[in-house]
Amino acid sequence: MKQTIFALFMLLAAVNVAAQGYQALFEVEHGPYLQALTTNSVVVSFATSDRALSAVELREKGSQEVSTHYMTKDGLRMAYSKHNNVEIKDLRPATNYEYRIIAKPTLKYRPYDIRFGDEVQTEWYDFRTFAPDAETFTFVATTDIHDNARKCEDLLAMHDMEQAEALFMVGDIVCDISREGQAYESIIDVASRLFARNKPLYLIRGNHEVRGSHCRDLDLYFHKIDGRYYSLQRFGSTAVLMLDSGEDKADASAVFNGVKELEQYVDQEIEWLREAVRSKAWRKAAHRIVLIHIPPTSAPMRRVQQLEEILCWGSDSWGEKALDIFNNADIDLMISGHTHQFNFIPAVKGEQNYPLVINDHRSAMTVKVDGDGIDVKVINIDGEVLLEEHFQQ
Ligand SMILES: [Fe+2]
Repeated sequence: MKQTIFALFMLLAAVNVAAQGYQALFEVEHGPYLQALTTNSVVVSFATSDRALSAVELREKGSQEVSTHYMTKDGLRMAYSKHNNVEIKDLRPATNYEYRIIAKPTLKYRPYDIRFGDEVQTEWYDFRTFAPDAETFTFVATTDIHDNARKCEDLLAMHDMEQAEALFMVGDIVCDISREGQAYESIIDVASRLFARNKPLYLIRGNHEVRGSHCRDLDLYFHKIDGRYYSLQRFGSTAVLMLDSGEDKADASAVFNGVKELEQYVDQEIEWLREAVRSKAWRKAAHRIVLIHIPPTSAPMRRVQQLEEILCWGSDSWGEKALDIFNNADIDLMISGHTHQFNFIPAVKGEQNYPLVINDHRSAMTVKVDGDGIDVKVINIDGEVLLEEHFQQ
């Protein structure tokens, strides 16, 4: 009898130690990182090490009044989930906020018996909502990182990330998405550590983000503004169009084996684009910038010999379908990537009415917008300045 009681006691002790060990391992593992920050809203994203019920606690800087925000889906809090994108609305413009993540691991999830472990908390982080009337906007942009987080870190180190207000990753960042969590290693972990806990990170899809078995899950990690991978957002007086350029090959290409309808998708996007450039948000902006991974072919691009040779089906298709729209949209600057070759194509009236910067796979740029125009400085991984240009408006 004594032996049975002792064995039972040891078993319970072992279970308790295991539970404590489990609890000690539970943490906020990725992020937090901010997305889609506007004048009055933000998305706070993060992932826990195991399934959990998590939330964001938010307060205005200097205030003790804390509000709690959950990711919900169709009326349900995400209580059995690792990754969260928590949308917070009704913020005040140009206001400093502080936030932290709270999370409880889901120990048991039966229909009528739901149990959570002890709550863990992150430290408090801060951010500031954009001012609607801001005349200046500074951002850093890069392209074609292809999962190389180390390269990304080295590139960002050459730019003043303190001064930058947003980080745009313009395609081919998370490459041929083939496993859960790839996006963390590609970009999210490094961007969170260097920048995105306090300022917003944007991913614009490139052709390598629409490839791989797990590419359909990209929106687990990257928030779609208005439910789409393409959007128009204002940053004070600057309007930024973020476009999804789709594939560089036709849907019917043998390598895709019938899994794509991106041509139809891009056609719908171009219809949306036609309206977007007529919108007040675009027309009334003091500065207008387009970010699109694959550069739409124009005549001046064709005249650059080394570029003409590498232009893809996607470039030509965008050129045929949308160059007219772009040429009539008063664009001050277009930024692309994809070719892995740096090119600056100045505006040529009537052919390409906007300057185009094609970033390569080993460079990043700072773009500073103010009342005088737009300054662009592109620096490659060797520290060479590839372009330093002021665009007067
Ligand atoms: Fe690409």
